Amino acid sequence: MPKHSESMPRITRQEGGTRIVLGPGAVQDLRPLLRELGSTRPYLVTGPHLAGGPVGARVREALGDGLVGTYSQSRPHVPEATAEEVAEEARSRKADALVGLGGGSPIGTAKAAAFRLQEASGSIRGPGCFVAAVPTTYAGSEVTPVFGTTDLDRGRKSVVRSDPIRPRLALYDPELALETPPDLTASTGVNALAHCVEALYSKDAGQEERATALRAAGRILETLPRAVEEPRNLMYRYRMFEGSMEAGLVLAKAGMGVHHGLCHVLGGRYNAPHGVLNGIILPHAMRFNLPIAGKAYRELAPLLHVPSTRSGDAALGENVCQATSEFIRGLGLPQRLRDLGIAKADLPSIAAEALESKSVRANPRPVTVDGALEILLAAW
Ligand SMILES: [Fe+2]
Repeated sequence: MPKHSESMPRITRQEGGTRIVLGPGAVQDLRPLLRELGSTRPYLVTGPHLAGGPVGARVREALGDGLVGTYSQSRPHVPEATAEEVAEEARSRKADALVGLGGGSPIGTAKAAAFRLQEASGSIRGPGCFVAAVPTTYAGSEVTPVFGTTDLDRGRKSVVRSDPIRPRLALYDPELALETPPDLTASTGVNALAHCVEALYSKDAGQEERATALRAAGRILETLPRAVEEPRNLMYRYRMFEGSMEAGLVLAKAGMGVHHGLCHVLGGRYNAPHGVLNGIILPHAMRFNLPIAGKAYRELAPLLHVPSTRSGDAALGENVCQATSEFIRGLGLPQRLRDLGIAKADLPSIAAEALESKSVRANPRPVTVDGALEILLAAW
């Protein structure tokens, strides 16, 4: 049994209703941690790949005979029918906690199902199920009160913010992330980076959130390429979880802007992975925000190894956007919307739909249809 206690100490925190536990082997404590929160009948929600592999087996073993069932068909962007099905299963098995295992989709599915159960119980405070989360990617959903569901017929993703569905436990075990493939590591890591960037120029972020966002961005920028290169390196997985956890926490406090708004519209329409869309949109959304993000980009510059310049904030900001784009390219992620098969002719209607997004409306630089289109054309 390797000793990790010095280089990877166990982290335990309480943040806005979420108990955070991070450390190698932490999954062994999943059952007692749930019990402390009042759950003796957890129901596991995950995707087919994890459910059928060693990660699912390890979590089921940790939950032991307390586990009342497993839903193993979570799907990207959480189709509404899936959330309904999970809520129904959890209700019929008298589950008292929904444990989302995996990335943003299974954790989002657990949240969406819990939201339905809490609504159906007539009281948002219970007696429905609470949510717990065991992430294996860097999407951050495990510490936020936000989830999206998708109406597949209309190709529309709706994003809901509801404090009662914020996970009461976020358990990060880097050993469970060793199986996460490099492309998913890269795309969800860029999603975490985008949470930091949007927090840095958010109107709702205070001094403390900005400091956390910068620290998390630094950790992600330093570690992500290494974690992609060496997916089975436990230390890199540990550091990425430190970064993505703090990125998720700032997202929970500071909210999102035009970048996430566009990613949500595109994800709902084309069923493209959220992380991949993040990699395509982020540098262009950052460029759009250049006029209001001088301070944010000055702070990001050293983390991206962008030298200071005497030509002013605009030149430095442009170099920061460029360096972000190169960082993403270095991870081997797609860089163009056309790579996902999205037609140029669709862009105006995507831009129009984006203006309905709360995140787009919350962007610190006001976004018009033309502004949204400018970002989409640049990303196409
Ligand atoms: Fe995100």
